[in-house]
Amino acid sequence: AKRDVGETASLMAAQILSTIGVPLWFGDTIIGVLQVDNRAAKGLFKERDLDILAVLAQTTSQAFHHARLYQRLEVTEEQAQRENEYLKERDKSQRFSGIIGESSAMAKLFDQLKKVVDTRVTVLIEGETGTGKELIASAVHHWSKRADKLFVATNSAAMPENLIESELFGHKKGAFTGATDDKAGLFVIADGGTLFLDEIGEMPLPTQAKLLRVLQEGEVRPVGSNQVKQVDVRIVAATNRELEKEVSEGRFREDLYYRLKVFPLRVPPLRERREDIPLLAGYFLTRYVQEFGREVGGFSQQAMELLQSYKWPGNVRELENEVQRLVIQVDDGDFVQVDHVSARIRQVENVLDRVKPKKGTLKEMVEQVEKWILHEALRDHGNNKTATAKTLGMTREGLHKKLKNYGMT
Ligand SMILES: Nc1ncnc2c1ncn2[C@@H]1O[C@H](COP(=O)(O)OP(=O)(O)OP(=O)(O)O)[C@@H](O)[C@H]1O
Ligand SMILES: [Mg+2]
Repeated sequence: AKRDVGETASLMAAQILSTIGVPLWFGDTIIGVLQVDNRAAKGLFKERDLDILAVLAQTTSQAFHHARLYQRLEVTEEQAQRENEYLKERDKSQRFSGIIGESSAMAKLFDQLKKVVDTRVTVLIEGETGTGKELIASAVHHWSKRADKLFVATNSAAMPENLIESELFGHKKGAFTGATDDKAGLFVIADGGTLFLDEIGEMPLPTQAKLLRVLQEGEVRPVGSNQVKQVDVRIVAATNRELEKEVSEGRFREDLYYRLKVFPLRVPPLRERREDIPLLAGYFLTRYVQEFGREVGGFSQQAMELLQSYKWPGNVRELENEVQRLVIQVDDGDFVQVDHVSARIRQVENVLDRVKPKKGTLKEMVEQVEKWILHEALRDHGNNKTATAKTLGMTREGLHKKLKNYGMT
């Protein structure tokens, strides 16, 4: 509205003689005022000027609004990015601290790992079941510069043969019955990142041939397609079989074996790093106590000694399962005692403690121990004399003679 502004103090101070202004609206709110001042003459602005200003004001409020939105967007984006970085860091440190091991065997492995992470070379992880191959494979990715790209894991053993290839390389719609759509293979999905081929020893020979070609040429061709796509994928493979033996027995392609074995990492069995057992057991105890909301105090010394002397054929996984069971088993507030520990692990208890030979001559006491050992060994082998004799390092005839002497047949 037009009004006589001659008297307004601030305008007078600024020596403004004419002024018009229009509010900048956005929706129902005024976000500012667009104002034009003149110091030369009074009553300079006319109705027409107001119309022009109104049009200008409309455009201006839009622009203002956009600028504000944009600013907010920037702030949000920055925040999201910070959050993302934080999560990635946390993820990294968790994974880093997630591999427990201070033994020299593990130190050697970590050394090797550090050397290889920032190269592109293929890593082959060999080790018995449950030694932590998958954990190491994920470290190869998460410690590398590719960490912000995908770590894609696949397991040949878990998949029917005809699906493996379409899983790895993708397929074209109509390539086979059931292929109702184009499907991207894991090689394409993992582009820029890492592809983990678990249980590579179980991969069928025809698939091995195709994998070799992809590794040699750096390009994949989906099943049923005649177009290839370049991919940049770091391969990490794992096996609990002895691949060299698989090669010599014709179950694994020699050329692929050498292609994969550029940088072999051997994860040592737990029995070769017994000093890590208390660390690992403590780590799993803390974890499962928390997860199950229990209050187990820890391990008694004897219980820990048992865990440390057992041979752990199932390696870290077997230890983890045992600790998990113990956390459930032990009453709140108690420590893990020898009696809580699984029978198969307790078998390694000091032989003399278990047999408790009655006092007598040396010969009598040794005989008691010998009888006990024979008895246990036979039981371990389901009474199979040949296997028992082999384990005890004697001939079958020798074993027979002993058993007969002790009246054990
Ligand atoms: N050094 C370690 N520190 C902490 N946890 C470990 C360690 N090694 C293995 N584990 C745990 O033990 C379990 C088995 O490990 P993983 O699955 O990596 O073994 P694997 O070698 O792949 O076994 P498999 O050959 O049977 O597939 C997992 O729960 C893993 O988190
Ligand atoms: Mg595994």
